[in-house]
Amino acid sequence: MDARFKSRYGPYAVVAGGSDGLGAAFAEALAQRGLDLVLVARQEDRLRALASRLAQGYGIDAIPIAADLADVDAAMARIGALPAGIGLLVYNAAYAPIGPFAETDADRLARAAAVNVRAPLLLAKRLSAPMIARGRGGIVLMSSLAGAQGSPNLAAYAATKSFNATLAEGLWKELKPHGVDVLACVAGAILTPGYRQAEKSRPAPGAMEARDVAECALRALGKGPIVVPGAVNRVARFVLTRLLPRRAAIALMARNTGGLS
Ligand SMILES: NC(=O)c1ccc[n+]([C@@H]2O[C@H](COP(=O)([O-])OP(=O)(O)OC[C@H]3O[C@@H](n4cnc5c(N)ncnc54)[C@H](OP(=O)(O)O)[C@@H]3O)[C@@H](O)[C@H]2O)c1
Repeated sequence: MDARFKSRYGPYAVVAGGSDGLGAAFAEALAQRGLDLVLVARQEDRLRALASRLAQGYGIDAIPIAADLADVDAAMARIGALPAGIGLLVYNAAYAPIGPFAETDADRLARAAAVNVRAPLLLAKRLSAPMIARGRGGIVLMSSLAGAQGSPNLAAYAATKSFNATLAEGLWKELKPHGVDVLACVAGAILTPGYRQAEKSRPAPGAMEARDVAECALRALGKGPIVVPGAVNRVARFVLTRLLPRRAAIALMARNTGGLS
């Protein structure tokens, strides 16, 4: 229980993409701090199992909402119908169409835009309004080192992650006077089921456990617009964004992403 965190960002936190991997780690870290939860993901059984484990383990309320965030309007209608006072949004869900752009179906690109761009944008808009009225709250948007520059074979995903970082920076400044803290978590590799499925070879240098990334992000909320969890990832971001010329940064990233299919 963390009374200061709960009074600043409670009573309820929405974790969008909150049933597995990093989303489950965010949910558990928030439950440990005493926040009640609204967990959104598609696979209902897994979602219900996590909600019930956290509710019993931490004595909190955990509401599962089985919904596809590609249709954020439907998900928002269900969240909006809850009698819960929402003081925090963690937007974790993402879809990554991996592989050559020329061979990627337009439907998959549209899905990435819906899940990674339209949904966090509109959820932030919808949920920040009552936070602004209350004069307190928080928003965490998941970004990625892949979004620090163009990333071949992950071009669309990387662009959506760049969008989230830029959105968070703008909102950080804009919403601060209203008492709402906004943070982009610019993560390197995280050892989630999604990552292990996509990355067939050894994990990238600096790969982190999901619970460490979630803790790092929640501790950074309210301290600045961006957090990069892990020393190796902070060095990587410095090299990619400050030291290298743009085309060299893209080439370096391509050494990691260029073979993805
Ligand atoms: N993993 C990494 O190496 C890495 C690196 C940098 C940044 N990130 C970012 O960190 C976040 C988590 O990454 P991850 O891919 O590794 O995922 P993850 O933490 O394993 O979780 C994905 C979660 O989102 C849910 N989800 C996915 N698509 C959804 C949709 N359309 N509607 C509702 N829920 C959805 C999943 O549940 P259901 O399947 O039940 O829907 C699951 O609970 C993402 O924003 C990603 O961009 C990840």
